[in-house]
Amino acid sequence: MAGYLVSDTRKVTTHRFLEMKQKGEKISMLTSYDFTTAGIVDKAGVDAILVGDSASNVMAGNVTTLPITVEQMIYHASSVVRAVQRALVVCDMPFGSYQIDRHEGLKNAVHIMKRSGCDALKLEGGIEIIETVKGILDAGIPVMGHLGLTPQSINKFGTYAVRAQEDEEAEKLLADAALLDETGCFAIVLEKVPAALAKKVSETVKCPTIGIGAGNGTDGQVLVVDDMLGKTQGFSPKFLRRYADLNAVMTDAIGQYVTDVKNIDFPNESESY
Ligand code: KIV
Repeated sequence: MAGYLVSDTRKVTTHRFLEMKQKGEKISMLTSYDFTTAGIVDKAGVDAILVGDSASNVMAGNVTTLPITVEQMIYHASSVVRAVQRALVVCDMPFGSYQIDRHEGLKNAVHIMKRSGCDALKLEGGIEIIETVKGILDAGIPVMGHLGLTPQSINKFGTYAVRAQEDEEAEKLLADAALLDETGCFAIVLEKVPAALAKKVSETVKCPTIGIGAGNGTDGQVLVVDDMLGKTQGFSPKFLRRYADLNAVMTDAIGQYVTDVKNIDFPNESESY
């Protein structure tokens, strides 16, 4: 089965992101962490691939995104870059790699860009990290912001509940979004915030917003690929639409393989040398 028919097969750039917002064309984004998956995601027509630090959960089985390192992110991102022809590849800067100071953030940003070959970086936070964002942008590296539920701060939040439901937090989010936009971020992820607030941010800022659990008023959407394909289990937030049940498909196929091996049905003569 073919993927989405893309009308423009040129490599997606940050400039195209802005054009898409201006034209009212929604931006599709999915995560990927490995060569094989990224190749499928790219071929199916997704506009941007996020090498998310959710690799810490999905690939490594950690409870949070905090343990993943710069070198591990580079390993995932370079695998993705080798597979992709069209999609814009954005890599998350992992926890601890940019929160300490502007100098260290910039050093890590340059290192990730050089070693992974990705097109842009994503950082979580607003005013607290703005000097670092400026430094990275000044070095010519495109930055995607990330506001709302920022999983690297989960220990501070203490909960994965919807963010910015109260006026004070909503005001801060609006101010942070405006600041990231004015500073030059090419896009902002809005995670798990009320749909009305996400719509308001999207109407206020110049750059495109990409939502996850933020309603359909954002300029694009992002999901974790293993979640939307139904590979992961036991994670069913309201915003997650499952497009396949790969967990069942894989379990059935592997069960069949085990049966065939046990019954000396695999390999057969035509599968032998
Ligand atoms: O790491 C990730 O997958 C993300 C998305 C949930 C936006 O940051």
